Amino acid sequence: MLMSLLVPTIALSDSSVAVMSVDLGSEWMKVAIVKPGVPMEIALNKESRRKTPIAVCLKENERLFGDSALGSVKNPKFVYRHLQSLLGKKHDNPQVAVYQKRFPEHHLVTDESRGTVLFSNSEEMQYSPEELLGMVLNYSRGLAQDFAEQPIKDAVITVPVFFNQAERRAVLQAAQMAGVKVLQLINDNTAVALNYGVFRRKDINSTAQNIMFYDMGSGSTTATIVTYQTVKTEESGSQPQLQIRGVGFDRSLGGFEMELRLQDHLAKLFNEQKKTKKDVRENHRAMAKLLKEAQRLKTVLSANAEFMAQVEGLLDDMDFKAKVTRVEFETLCADLFERVPGPVQDALSSAEMSLDEIEQVILVGGSTRVPKVQEVLLKAVGKEELGKNLNADEAAAMGAVYQAAALSKAFKVQPFLVREATVFPIQVEFTSEMEEDGSRILKHNKHILFQRMAPYPQSKVFTFNHTDDFAFNINYGDLSFLGQEDLSVFGSLNLTTVQLSGVGSSFQKHTDAEYKGINASFNMNESGVLLLDRDEKVHPESVKAQEEAAPQEEKQEPGEEQQQQEVAPTHEKTEGGKLFDRLIDRGLSPGYLQIHCNNVCFLPVRLQDLTDRDLKKQEREKTLNSLEAFLFDTQDKMYQEEYQAVVLEEEKENILAKLSQVSTWMDEDGYSASTKELREKLQSLRNLCKAMFFRVEERRKWPGHLATLESKLNRSSFFLSSKLVPEDDRIFTDVELKTLEKVINETSTWKNNTVAEQEKSSPTERPVLLSKDIESKWALLDREVNYLLNKPKAAKPKAAKPKAAKPKAAKPNNNSTTESKELPIKEPTGQNTDSLSQSQPTDKTTRTGTSVIGTVSAIETTFLRV
Ligand SMILES: *[C@@H]1O[C@H](CO)[C@@H](O)[C@H](O)[C@H]1NC(C)=O
Ligand SMILES: *[C@@H]1O[C@H](CO)[C@@H](O)[C@H](O)[C@H]1NC(C)=O
Ligand SMILES: *[C@@H]1O[C@H](CO)[C@@H](O)[C@H](O)[C@H]1NC(C)=O
Ligand SMILES: *[C@@H]1O[C@H](CO)[C@@H](O)[C@H](O)[C@H]1NC(C)=O
Ligand SMILES: *[C@@H]1O[C@H](CO)[C@@H](O)[C@H](O)[C@H]1NC(C)=O
Ligand SMILES: *[C@@H]1O[C@H](CO)[C@@H](O)[C@H](O)[C@H]1NC(C)=O
Ligand SMILES: *[C@@H]1O[C@H](CO)[C@@H](O)[C@H](O)[C@H]1NC(C)=O
Ligand SMILES: *[C@@H]1O[C@H](CO)[C@@H](O)[C@H](O)[C@H]1NC(C)=O
Ligand SMILES: *[C@@H]1O[C@H](CO)[C@@H](O)[C@H](O)[C@H]1NC(C)=O
Ligand SMILES: *[C@@H]1O[C@H](CO)[C@@H](O)[C@H](O)[C@H]1NC(C)=O
Ligand SMILES: *[C@@H]1O[C@H](CO)[C@@H](O)[C@H](O)[C@H]1NC(C)=O
Repeated sequence: MLMSLLVPTIALSDSSVAVMSVDLGSEWMKVAIVKPGVPMEIALNKESRRKTPIAVCLKENERLFGDSALGSVKNPKFVYRHLQSLLGKKHDNPQVAVYQKRFPEHHLVTDESRGTVLFSNSEEMQYSPEELLGMVLNYSRGLAQDFAEQPIKDAVITVPVFFNQAERRAVLQAAQMAGVKVLQLINDNTAVALNYGVFRRKDINSTAQNIMFYDMGSGSTTATIVTYQTVKTEESGSQPQLQIRGVGFDRSLGGFEMELRLQDHLAKLFNEQKKTKKDVRENHRAMAKLLKEAQRLKTVLSANAEFMAQVEGLLDDMDFKAKVTRVEFETLCADLFERVPGPVQDALSSAEMSLDEIEQVILVGGSTRVPKVQEVLLKAVGKEELGKNLNADEAAAMGAVYQAAALSKAFKVQPFLVREATVFPIQVEFTSEMEEDGSRILKHNKHILFQRMAPYPQSKVFTFNHTDDFAFNINYGDLSFLGQEDLSVFGSLNLTTVQLSGVGSSFQKHTDAEYKGINASFNMNESGVLLLDRDEKVHPESVKAQEEAAPQEEKQEPGEEQQQQEVAPTHEKTEGGKLFDRLIDRGLSPGYLQIHCNNVCFLPVRLQDLTDRDLKKQEREKTLNSLEAFLFDTQDKMYQEEYQAVVLEEEKENILAKLSQVSTWMDEDGYSASTKELREKLQSLRNLCKAMFFRVEERRKWPGHLATLESKLNRSSFFLSSKLVPEDDRIFTDVELKTLEKVINETSTWKNNTVAEQEKSSPTERPVLLSKDIESKWALLDREVNYLLNKPKAAKPKAAKPKAAKPKAAKPNNNSTTESKELPIKEPTGQNTDSLSQSQPTDKTTRTGTSVIGTVSAIETTFLRV
């Protein structure tokens, strides 16, 4: 199916045609690629996982990413994560304070030049969130390249739909620092909707269908209403289209907040246990461990009613153990669950729709796995059930990579039209002089350029009739739909002030020419980034957009537009052009100034220094990863039924203790340990768990192995019985047949006894029934049967080549005991028994015979190959 969606065409000039997507969440990222021959795939990370924590650990000369970075709990202050909430934020933004409270180990200072924040560990070690995100993006490209086995430059990156101009620009800047070419920033909800649509192309017709996606991730929650339908286009006829109709969001509702509640709860429990005089909350490292445990707790409580949280040596070598129930968890988060319906309501009101118009509500995002979230949501939407037919974790990455393939010229992709919607309205504001009652007064004007839910990309041209130098502001429009808290997080409502000079002098010089006004074209591009543009031919939407906007502008500000005065002959126009060029240069974002070049250029140099060391470190990192993966996997296994069934409490405790011990060691000393030490730790753990793993593996193999043995026994017995004909009419001696019979008997006895014995013994002991013994038993059976099968080749020249032997048994023959001396061997043509019985329809007995013949020939083929 995928192949029909994406048909890679011939590569263009260079070979680097693979493209990637990065689904950037607040906590995790998922990377997907498309390359010729590989439709759409999630790129596995170095630990072979499908998602990677967004985390960088920068310590002196070390640089770690993803799981490895998070592994260094010993030094949380060198581990940078949850960067999303800091992007494009001024230092006084409440979200910065929240971050500081959550991660007290970090020292955040103001970047004087931009007013934004910097992580400051020392004079030399100051990093902006954009810079850190740049490193993460560069790392994600590394993962994609390793997976694609070719260089990759182009990417589609997801952003939360509620990202404003400053936040979007911050991501673009990070990508620029990483040298990643951004084909588009796609809203994550749109990426999900696209993924949903492309796989249901055939269900989309001219009747509009409204679907709501409810996405609760780690950091935020979004509800999106999407309309799917086919539309007629001039170029290529009828095509499927998705249109974002309504969006509601809660910037801070997500799984991470739940984990923080649990972390706090665990801290409280530990303090109450009074194992030490210290307050665990004051120890960053211990709190980092509790957060890790809280994460596990949240996951486990989604499936279990209660769970024993435990951390070895949490503080002052004191272990921590406490039971937490799901009910307690739900109480801790009660106010969060109350916020679940909020985004649904907001999405409906922005779309001006009612719930009846929504056909289905589909769950997206890892945190929708929390049972209470589903319960509350289901009630809020009043549907019979919630749609769970989408890959909650990967839909955004897959939708984004589809878009990447569509935008890249190297792939031919079936078109799927996407109509994005502006979440935050944008308007232009300025003062103009007016004649009123004979006196000149100043009037403040507002014109909406992009209203809420206006589709984009699109351009809007606005014509000023000013005849003197003037300034205009570009601001966000009415954001009253945001709550007070969101408004304060949003930051300044002013986007930029544009000062035009040279207008007055130009007007004075050309009083005789016809004045057509000054056109400014505002373009909301594919990435949802607003640009000031002087090219009016930018987008076909532009004309339409103007028509749409016209009545409104007329209503709000009659007659402001065109003034019939001649000012600018042709050469002045170019000057006007230059004027706007300069404006474009300045960027449209004093609300968030660009990081100046010093900083940008500085970055790669500094990172380059590390590259040689990186190479040397690779071996160590690999070992570290294996050890971490082993710890992680085994800890996980200890809670799986299959493993619990084969260990005694004592052994389990012992393994858990050792795992935890090594875990702690990793957090503390593992960070600086040598490759050798890491290897030794890993080996000792492997030895410790070997017996348990062996038991589980054996048990896994039993059903298959026993079935194989049983069927080989059946076959051999059948073969034997079919050969028991009068002695002078057969080629096998009594001794030969007795030998086979004996082997069959012995095997059957062994099997019965061993299985019985195994049933009596404890699953926590080394198994009596061993897969390798079963294998050797069946090998013995095979050997005997094959010996007999090959005998006639030596005895009778005609049958020497079994391949040439006629499939005599295939003759309609009721009685398999009436065979001649020629063996009933079918030519190993690969024909299956079905086709045989088809070509020679016979009664039941014959079919049984045929089937045996078929199987016997299979045994023979194996033998001949040996
Ligand atoms: C980006 O990552 C690659 C490895 O994938 C590394 O060689 C390169 O130095 C990194 N660049 C920067 C600027 O960090
Ligand atoms: C569109 O498809 C839906 C089912 O997916 C069907 O109920 C409806 O009748 C179809 N409408 C048209 C116009 O084909
Ligand atoms: C923000 O915009 C408003 C309205 O245009 C304007 O009055 C105000 O001066 C602007 N503030 C700044 C700091 O630019
Ligand atoms: C400004 O735009 C309008 C409409 O798009 C156009 O008619 C007019 O000629 C333009 N004026 C200038 C000075 O380019
Ligand atoms: C949109 O504008 C930004 C800012 O100038 C730019 O980086 C980006 O390439 C533009 N186009 C798209 C498709 O994102
Ligand atoms: C611009 O247009 C408005 C509305 O028609 C008018 O009142 C004003 O005088 C015009 N300004 C100039 C400088 O022509
Ligand atoms: C072997 O044959 C017995 C009866 O003849 C049957 O119950 C059993 O399922 C067969 N086992 C296999 C593995 O074919
Ligand atoms: C095999 O077992 C059957 C019945 O269990 C018995 O009659 C026969 O003698 C045995 N054959 C040999 C060779 O042990
Ligand atoms: C082994 O057990 C099966 C099924 O219980 C039985 O049919 C068979 O005769 C037994 N074999 C021996 C050798 O006891
Ligand atoms: C097979 O058996 C059926 C009935 O048992 C009989 O009618 C038929 O003739 C037999 N065929 C052969 C080839 O022996
Ligand atoms: C099939 O074999 C049995 C036993 O050897 C014999 O009694 C019978 O006559 C045979 N039937 C046919 C159709 O050859």
